[in-house]
Amino acid sequence: MRTQVGIVGAGPAGLMLSHLLHLEGIASVVLESRSREEIESTIRAGVLEQGTVDLLERTGVGARMRREGAVHHGIKLRFGGRTHRIDLRALTGGKSIMLYAQHEVIKDLVQARLQAGGELRFEAEAIAVDGISGQSPRIRFREDGRAQELACDFVAGCDGFHGVSRAPFGWFGFLTRAPSSSDELIYARHERGFALVSTRSPQIQRLYFQCDPRDDEESWSDARIWEEMHARLENVEGWKLTEGPILQKGIVALRSFMVEPMQHGRLFLAGDAAHIVPATGAKGLNLAVADVLVLSRALAAFFRSGNGALLDRYSATCLRRAWLVQRFSRWMTALTHRDDGDDAFTGQLQLAELEYLTGSRAAQAALAENYVGLAME
Ligand code: PHB
Repeated sequence: MRTQVGIVGAGPAGLMLSHLLHLEGIASVVLESRSREEIESTIRAGVLEQGTVDLLERTGVGARMRREGAVHHGIKLRFGGRTHRIDLRALTGGKSIMLYAQHEVIKDLVQARLQAGGELRFEAEAIAVDGISGQSPRIRFREDGRAQELACDFVAGCDGFHGVSRAPFGWFGFLTRAPSSSDELIYARHERGFALVSTRSPQIQRLYFQCDPRDDEESWSDARIWEEMHARLENVEGWKLTEGPILQKGIVALRSFMVEPMQHGRLFLAGDAAHIVPATGAKGLNLAVADVLVLSRALAAFFRSGNGALLDRYSATCLRRAWLVQRFSRWMTALTHRDDGDDAFTGQLQLAELEYLTGSRAAQAALAENYVGLAME
């Protein structure tokens, strides 16, 4: 078995890379340990940057997103009993974000790859990558209980985060069948901890509240979940959080992690395999898309002309942007989360940061520019 680019992992990074390579006339095989059903139903975040939206549309996989997703032109910050709107569109010269769940992007990419005759092997678990320092690396994998080998020119590691790292914050995330309480996302800073109101559709809402990352999901009854959400969000005159049945729930850890460099010989890492950012900026998928855009261009240049200059710069190019996203995600987290160790001084500083932000157009423009997404290339 042989291909030009062997891709490990069918998440946003792996699938988008396979799609972009196909458009460049480059063959790839994607190996994914999980089943198609599983990757198409795993609940993750749902905010697409302007650049991600543009790229999906430009490359022919944006039609359903355009129909079913929701464009948001602003977000809201809530603290100290008031709500302040950040006008993303006005502050960025016309850019916005798209609310469209990650697993919907996955479905669209899987469909596009299969329709184009792409090779996606589900329930195929990569065991090892050999020969990355030579010209012909090989991925050993297991499929249907049999050991197999895929020979390729390059390997892309798009199989997510495997490291260990301490998680300072956790988020309890859940889906509820309820009408939306807000036309835009609300990021709330509260003494009891952070809360976030997001959405999936007019009927389904995505809500989060900060919890201990070591909490057990089962210790949060539905009644306790709603009580916490109401307490953190309803300190604003005339605003009510709509309730509904809870359809799905889970705790996610907010971690920060960077792998440097993102290249080892003919192995290139992309997406979560290379960097983890806390979910507060909703950047994970977008960062993965930015990585594989750079990688697809570099591979295309190499296969066209044998010129490896862009491949040699891959790691530095992606890391520069990834660090800026890491910076922003950490700042958004620090702006809105409560640490058990926080003293009164730290709490006041956080409020001062929010005061400054909501009083300064320049500060809001900085937030907006990062939130809608930094340039991808
Ligand atoms: C989500 O809709 O799941 C979501 C939105 C904003 C975030 C994180 C997650 O910052």
